[in-house]
Formats: sequence, structure tokens, C-alpha cells
Amino acid sequence: MEIEQDSKPKILIIFAHPYPQQSRVNRPLLEEAQRIPEVEIIDLYEQYPDFYIDIPAEQRRLTTADLIIFHHPFYWYSAPSLLKHWQDMVLEERFALNEGGYALRGKKLMSMVTVGHSEQSYQLDGYDRFPIDHFLLPYEQMAFHCGMQYLPPFVVYSAHRITESEIAIQACNYRQHLLSYLSNIDNE
Ligand SMILES: Cc1cc2nc3c(=O)[nH]c(=O)nc-3n(C[C@H](O)[C@H](O)[C@H](O)COP(=O)(O)O)c2cc1C
Repeated sequence: MEIEQDSKPKILIIFAHPYPQQSRVNRPLLEEAQRIPEVEIIDLYEQYPDFYIDIPAEQRRLTTADLIIFHHPFYWYSAPSLLKHWQDMVLEERFALNEGGYALRGKKLMSMVTVGHSEQSYQLDGYDRFPIDHFLLPYEQMAFHCGMQYLPPFVVYSAHRITESEIAIQACNYRQHLLSYLSNIDNE
């Protein structure tokens, strides 16, 4: 496969929310990110309601990105199922792994997750028993095996209770986070 190389850095957000019209937290964050011209968004549930993934199109899209973000609510300590299915279909061995593959090598991977419970809850002595990084290990491991750099996640805690103004602040913070990534990469 030919790898496209654009000189402009690009962020690809892979958004997975089965009920975006009911989303309080993910949707405003996504809308803020969308305001950045270098950001491309793929809404998995909108694009693939039948779970039939266009693998070549997804692989092509990935090769043009510098930073890939998995943006989703936390469902049972993981992602909504279509994101997992997308991984299973798109990250084929001959594309992402081993000789002839490694199409994602050198790219960066980050998770943007919203979680219902509080940050205190995601502690060893809390209700959720483990820090969030523990549950995100499969993504860190995916990055490792694909030769990618895994970046610290952007996490919005207490999604059940967070107020509208706190959501607006988090959305601004998310946008700032992406903008500072773009300006850092420009200065590299
Ligand atoms: C099926 C399902 C599973 C969930 N599992 C978790 C979980 O494991 N941990 C957690 O903190 N919150 C969990 N939640 C809460 C969601 O993460 C929360 O509702 C979501 O992040 C809110 O984002 P939204 O307003 O964009 O939908 C779950 C919610 C649903 C519907």
C-alpha cells in the first residue's frame, strides 16, 4: 500500500458513540475539536450502522494522519463495540503489523474518553478499583505493536454529574490540547 505523506500535520478522530443524539459530554467536545481545520472526524456509528466497515477506505484515512484519537464514552471499562470491531477489521496484520505492514509506525495514538464515575472512584481504593490507565492498557499495547507512540489520555470524569458549564470548559480544554499538539509538532 502506498503511504500518503502530506506536509501538514493532521489529527484523525475516530468517534464511537451509539447514541450521539443523547450525548451530553462527547458531542460538545467533538464539536469543539471539529472547529480545528487540521482535524478530520469519522463518526463510526453514523458511517457504519450495519457494522460493515470499508477497510481500504479506513486504512487510507489512517495513513494520512499524524495523531489518531479514539474518542468515545467508556462502556463497561472499554469502548462501544463498533470501535472494537473497527480495530479487528482495519488493523490487519499485513497493514499494521510485521513485514510489509507497519503503516502506522511513527504515528501517535491517544484516547479521549468520558467516564460516568469520578476520578477518586478510579483509584486502587475506589469503587472502580483501578486507575483509568489500567483499563486503557489494550490501546497502549495496540500502539506498541503497531510501532506507534502512545500519548496520555484526555479523560473527562464524572460524566453523569458534570454541569453544562463544566462540559463547556472541558470542550475548550480538549480543543486547546489538540491545538498545542499541532503547534508542538510544527516546532519539532
Ligand atoms: C452501557 C454503558 C456502560 C457504561 N459503563 C461505564 C463504565 O464502565 N465506567 C464508567 O465510569 N461509566 C460507564 N458508563 C457511563 C458512561 O461512560 C457515560 O454515560 C458517558 O461517558 C457519558 O457521555 P455522553 O454524555 O457523551 O453519552 C456506562 C454507560 C453505559 C450506557
